[in-house]
Amino acid sequence: MFRIIDKSELCEKVYQFRIEAPHVVRKAKAGQFVILRKDETGERVPMSIGGLDKEKGILTVVIQEVGKTSGAMNRMKIGDSFADVVGPLGIPSHVEKFGHCICIGGGVGIPPIYPIAQALRGAGNKVTTIIGARTKNLLIFEKELTAASDQLLISTDDGSYGTHGFVTTILQKLIESGEKIDMVIAIGPVPMMKAIVNTTRTPKIKTYVSLNPIMVDGTGMCGACRVTVGGKTKFACVDGPDFDGHEVDFEEMTKRLKMYNKYEKVAYERFLDGKCNLGKKVKELENNIG
Ligand SMILES: Cc1cc2nc3c(=O)[nH]c(=O)nc-3n(C[C@H](O)[C@H](O)[C@H](O)COP(=O)(O)OP(=O)(O)OC[C@H]3O[C@@H](n4cnc5c(N)ncnc54)[C@H](O)[C@@H]3O)c2cc1C
Ligand code: FES
Repeated sequence: MFRIIDKSELCEKVYQFRIEAPHVVRKAKAGQFVILRKDETGERVPMSIGGLDKEKGILTVVIQEVGKTSGAMNRMKIGDSFADVVGPLGIPSHVEKFGHCICIGGGVGIPPIYPIAQALRGAGNKVTTIIGARTKNLLIFEKELTAASDQLLISTDDGSYGTHGFVTTILQKLIESGEKIDMVIAIGPVPMMKAIVNTTRTPKIKTYVSLNPIMVDGTGMCGACRVTVGGKTKFACVDGPDFDGHEVDFEEMTKRLKMYNKYEKVAYERFLDGKCNLGKKVKELENNIG
């Protein structure tokens, strides 16, 4: 069992959990992810690594409530335990001495940018981090990223904090100013990553994106996380999650992410109504069968 030793609300429907998971933390590197299961009948959900305390064996994850399982997880309390923390999964982010790296995060893509910025800086790079949100209240990890970066730049869609506009507004300005940029890495909603890739395509800046397709097993067996990169089929859980952004077929990925929307919506509504406890029903059925 993996005990929650700390939980805090970062903004509406977004909670940070610090979880005891020494065996996972020991091996984990920036850019990897874990698969969590709340209890033994729960759904497996992938979550990015938002921080690693190697000394104490503590893993940080930040969970946004978007449906039934993330909602149930965000209702867990300090002292409760996750049944499973599987990982570390995926290939760590590519870290070497590039020169000037731009790390970009949006929404719950901001926390996993934190260990990546730390690792890139540790490798001797100059790190500029750009984070963005719809409005000031939704901005998270500002303190952590200020510490991990040479420079932190912020955008809000409504102009309530930092630059008025998107993360790409800041990136475009940096490119136009003639700033030497050797590499960009972006994690966030698909439209954000797509816009970043379109901004860096003409100036030919190497751009990595961390993809978050639907995943099931996380070990390359089921094919759920299939994405097309450079015209070839890749499994994000074992070949990624980071890929060359200029090669990713974002249209296909967007369609595949919406595949189960109808069912997910029903499950979430039933969860909010307190009507759905599928896990309990399965358990009852198993017990009846013997
Ligand atoms: C490698 C990876 C890392 C991730 N890291 C984080 C993280 O650090 N924090 C976090 O809050 N979420 C993260 N996600 C997304 C998270 O796994 C999903 O939000 C979660 O599985 C939703 O489960 P649910 O039952 O609550 O909602 P569901 O009922 O499964 O889905 C509800 C809504 O969320 C959308 N959705 C479902 N799965 C995904 C997904 N993989 N990506 C984007 N939208 C999705 C659905 O289209 C639907 O609109 C990550 C996903 C991957 C693949
Ligand atoms: S999640 Fe099953 S192959 Fe990637």
